[in-house]
Amino acid sequence: MGEVGLYEAMSTLRAVRRLRPDPVPDAALRRVLEAASWAPTGGNAQPWRVVVVRDAAKKQRLGELYAERWAAYSARHLELIAEAPEALRERTGRMLAAGNHLAAHFGETPVVLAFCFDPRNMAITDAGLDRVSVVGGASIYTAVQNALLACRAEGLGCVLTTLLCECEPQVRELLEIPEPWGTAAAVPVGYPLLRGHGPLSRRPVEKLAFDDAWGRPWR
Ligand SMILES: Cc1cc2nc3c(=O)[nH]c(=O)nc-3n(C[C@H](O)[C@H](O)[C@H](O)COP(=O)(O)O)c2cc1C
Repeated sequence: MGEVGLYEAMSTLRAVRRLRPDPVPDAALRRVLEAASWAPTGGNAQPWRVVVVRDAAKKQRLGELYAERWAAYSARHLELIAEAPEALRERTGRMLAAGNHLAAHFGETPVVLAFCFDPRNMAITDAGLDRVSVVGGASIYTAVQNALLACRAEGLGCVLTTLLCECEPQVRELLEIPEPWGTAAAVPVGYPLLRGHGPLSRRPVEKLAFDDAWGRPWR
């Protein structure tokens, strides 16, 4: 995987929302797409496709739609954190500033990967449960994550976004996505404007993993 090792790629794969408009070489893009194709899916059905959007007018329209959704999301988010501790407000403020940049420049991103899924073929083993269903997503987000990691290996900035899913009908029309395919993520890809990838802020393993039973800390 090029210059970076797998663990280094994973541990520095943060959201990169400030991207340069310079084109992404076809060979790098192909490697990213091939990495996506290696992802596991339920029954190896590969019920996903990706529309590689490079057309300027289409990206501009996606950018307009994204900016609308982002404006609503960031306003809600600001309200939610109004009373939060200073440190959290500061961190969120930095994320929102980067998000504002992405929203303002989404259309200038060299490539947007629009990931689509076939709802008829997602191996949704939790569909019958009385809770929100998540298993189907595992037959597409594995491919998205592989693409993100490959971008990292290529030195390309990227971020998994889902806000455009809120306006799926408009995206469907723009990108000619047939029924009943749905949209799962849009990943803007380009070379980082600033430092790009770097250290992550995440909970430690001890808080996330349990030892044989829920709640018993794993050591
Ligand atoms: C399911 C999902 C949806 C996301 N949607 C968006 C989005 O619409 N816009 C955006 O800017 N970031 C989006 N993100 C990126 C997250 O905000 C980001 O991964 C998280 O804040 C951690 O940031 P970091 O990796 O830079 O530490 C999404 C991430 C995931 C996993």
